[in-house]
Amino acid sequence: MFDFSKVVDRHGTWCTQWDYVADRFGTADLLPFTISDMDFATAPCILEALNKRLAHGVLGYSRWKNDEFLGAVAHWLAQRHNTRIDTGSLVYGPSVIYMVSQLIRQWSAAGDGVVLHTPAYDAFYKAIDGNQRRAIPVALEQRDGDWHCDMDKLEAALARPESKILLLCSPHNPTGKVWTRAELDTMAALCERHGVRVISDEIHMDMVWSEQAHIPWSNVARGNWALFTSASKSFNIPALTGAWGLIEDADSRDAYLNALKGRDGLSSPAVLALTAHIAAYEQGAAWLDALREYLRENLRYIADSLNHAFPELNWQIPQATYLAWIDLRALNIDDKALQNALIQQEKVAIMPGDTYGDEGRGFVRLNAGCPRSKLEKGVNGLINAIRSVR
Ligand SMILES: Cc1ncc(COP(=O)(O)O)c(C=O)c1O
Repeated sequence: MFDFSKVVDRHGTWCTQWDYVADRFGTADLLPFTISDMDFATAPCILEALNKRLAHGVLGYSRWKNDEFLGAVAHWLAQRHNTRIDTGSLVYGPSVIYMVSQLIRQWSAAGDGVVLHTPAYDAFYKAIDGNQRRAIPVALEQRDGDWHCDMDKLEAALARPESKILLLCSPHNPTGKVWTRAELDTMAALCERHGVRVISDEIHMDMVWSEQAHIPWSNVARGNWALFTSASKSFNIPALTGAWGLIEDADSRDAYLNALKGRDGLSSPAVLALTAHIAAYEQGAAWLDALREYLRENLRYIADSLNHAFPELNWQIPQATYLAWIDLRALNIDDKALQNALIQQEKVAIMPGDTYGDEGRGFVRLNAGCPRSKLEKGVNGLINAIRSVR
């Protein structure tokens, strides 16, 4: 019904992935597997809704607190995540990272600590550093092909007097880890014990491949917390802007909304983002399920190809996200030499693992959100580059 193998030329659309690849990689015209957006057109139901809204022609100021938007979000959480919410706790923002950054300011002071699992999404470090807070890393550990958080180490970090916030990434970018209920319960109890507030970034919630379901933080929460997410990753609409979340504590929610509307002058949402979210959450399930199947096959393709070329890698597809977090340490190759071969020789852009912190050394992150024909070129490029530097 939906053809994800169709190649759409994104050149010349001011897209970060293709048109601005030189900004990160120093060279233009690379085949990019970088930041997390996909090369697919969004769902037809979203395009239809956007076209209809554009045909109306008037694009004046708007409001997100309307029954259609609130109802669509509640519907999605109920249908896809088995979660009922009080829509009175919903908040809106221009992007997930804007919302994270604002709550960091609201819930901590300059010099305070924000605990996070590392490796971590690079924008987390920027939001923490940019607000003059201190990142307090707790390294995830890889055992038996799975990622684990040592809860004693997490508790030690949360117990530090300067720790005010746990910035959770659930599911986790870049490892793809899906947190279990037991892990979430333990983290909730530890945060409560040490008076640490939780911000849970759940933007990858719809892209889970493991049997184990994603559990929204609202289902395990205690104390003071926020959950932020968006349809932007799942439906590939991040440049429309638009994100939403739950802040349960009324004072925190009011402070958030007052800053958004007053200090930051963002009282009107992007109306096309609202339109897209409503269409996605009310009508987009079939498209998303087809996309998920395609992406899962893409990840399997990466596993088959890499493990065939380098059996010692034994790379397994992640539990979640369309981002392949590939541990190359068994091959003992130099990260810089590999990047050089990828860029200069193979003409592909694949994220070096240390973008996500020191724990990412020896890894690469390859975005599999693209037609298979492109992915094949990227994986071949990676295999050739590895061979040339070994
Ligand atoms: C964990 C995580 N949070 C947030 C974002 C970005 O979201 P936004 O553009 O809404 O800030 C990304 C994008 O890669 C992400 O991986």
